[in-house]
Amino acid sequence: MAGSVYGTLFQIMTWGESHGKGIGVTVDGCPAGLPLTEAQVQRYLDRRRPGQGRFATKRQEGDQVEILSGVFEGRTTGTPIAMEIRNKDQRSRDYGDIMDVYRPGHADYTFDQKFGFRDYRGGGRSSGRETAGRVAGGAVAALLLEAFGVKVQAYTRSVGNIQVAPERFDLEEMWQNPLYMPDKQAAAEAEDYLNQVMAQKDSAGGVVECVITGLPAGVGDPVFDKLDACLAKAMLSIGAVKGFEIGEGFGAALLTGNQDNDGFSLDADGRIQKTSNHAGGVLGGISDGSPVVFRAAIKATPSISRPQRSVTRQGEERELEIKGRHDPIIVPRAVVVVETMAALTAADLLLRSAVSRLDRLQAILTPGR
Ligand SMILES: Cc1cc2nc3c(=O)[nH]c(=O)nc-3n(C[C@H](O)[C@H](O)[C@H](O)COP(=O)(O)O)c2cc1C
Repeated sequence: MAGSVYGTLFQIMTWGESHGKGIGVTVDGCPAGLPLTEAQVQRYLDRRRPGQGRFATKRQEGDQVEILSGVFEGRTTGTPIAMEIRNKDQRSRDYGDIMDVYRPGHADYTFDQKFGFRDYRGGGRSSGRETAGRVAGGAVAALLLEAFGVKVQAYTRSVGNIQVAPERFDLEEMWQNPLYMPDKQAAAEAEDYLNQVMAQKDSAGGVVECVITGLPAGVGDPVFDKLDACLAKAMLSIGAVKGFEIGEGFGAALLTGNQDNDGFSLDADGRIQKTSNHAGGVLGGISDGSPVVFRAAIKATPSISRPQRSVTRQGEERELEIKGRHDPIIVPRAVVVVETMAALTAADLLLRSAVSRLDRLQAILTPGR
């Protein structure tokens, strides 16, 4: 299938279907010498794993990653890093009813139109399960970024219309609730809201926010591969993501130039800094050294057990009730997907920025000459 490769210098290819034998990723372009263990990748995968808590699908997957290549004596070798996650809890028969009926909000109809044939067992490549490969690959990117002092952190900003309050924002709190919300009160309100939605056999959406700190100024290529353009593509490539904004985002359209512009000043050491960050850390598609702040809007889980209107492949109208096991909200499991896709984007563009200047190339290739 075309379109399974992401990145230029730091590249991933994900493979596998939700109900096939397994899923995985091949990372190409990771520099040699990066310390890497299965346990480090596993920590990221555990945040995406189903079967945890009341607001995630009950499908039980250990999501145990195995590194097949590209690592020797605990360090990357500079060759392709292949990682595999075997599927265990497929229960394909749950999906028998929807073999012929197009699920509203899913890719069933469009896959049939594109390929004329589709894996109906839970969406195949369009399934949220595909993102496990991205998370494994993105974990390597996040570890590479750490070597340069760059950190990527995502969290749930809102569930339905319940938002994290800036005055209560507490990053540590996100690890204390199943919604990964950095605000205890908002998380409690969101849980009440989700319980109501679930009682009505319905689902909910929300917004994930992500902050990249420590990214030096100068990352991102002008014109088509702008940092913000690449982040937008990375986010919108995640199933169920319906919107992207950076900095003030859509709100920028409501501000005057005087309100929106970030001034420049000098810090105590004479270094250039910005007086505010309405731009979200990107000017002209290039990082400006301040935190890169962006958001991804995630729709409500399309699989709901309420009766819905649909049509079969054979062209008959049919009422559909989806059985199976599904997240009432995708947002909490998508947090680490947003984070790792951002890490992949930042790592790729950071490596690319190393070759954008003659003085840097001379420092790398002919040091001391
Ligand atoms: C991490 C993750 C988990 C998901 N889990 C589910 C799920 O349990 N049930 C479901 O109906 N959709 C789930 N989805 C969303 C569907 O895969 C997606 O909405 C569908 O393929 C249609 O694509 P689109 O919404 O981008 O148009 C999940 C998506 C992600 C990123």
